[in-house]
Amino acid sequence: MALVISTVNMKGGVGKTTLTVNLATCLAKNHGKTSVSAGFGCPN
Ligand SMILES: Nc1ncnc2c1ncn2[C@@H]1O[C@H](COP(=O)(O)OP(=O)(O)OP(=O)(O)O)[C@@H](O)[C@H]1O
Ligand SMILES: [Mg+2]
Repeated sequence: MALVISTVNMKGGVGKTTLTVNLATCLAKNHGKTSVSAGFGCPN
């Protein structure tokens, strides 16, 4: 079953990408197949 995890915060530079990449690495290591899609911008 697919599981979708979103790391969301309106503020920039708070660590969304860092968290996403590290979380994906851990999930891939411990649970196998992991796909990452990152970087949706949200203008004010
Ligand atoms: N837990 C943390 N402790 C200290 N520094 C951190 C931590 N998480 C991220 N950083 C640093 O903060 C900076 C911004 O992180 P990152 O690029 O992940 O933020 P972002 O929310 O994805 O930014 P943007 O909105 O521009 O995409 C980077 O220099 C990163 O190394
Ligand atoms: Mg980012």
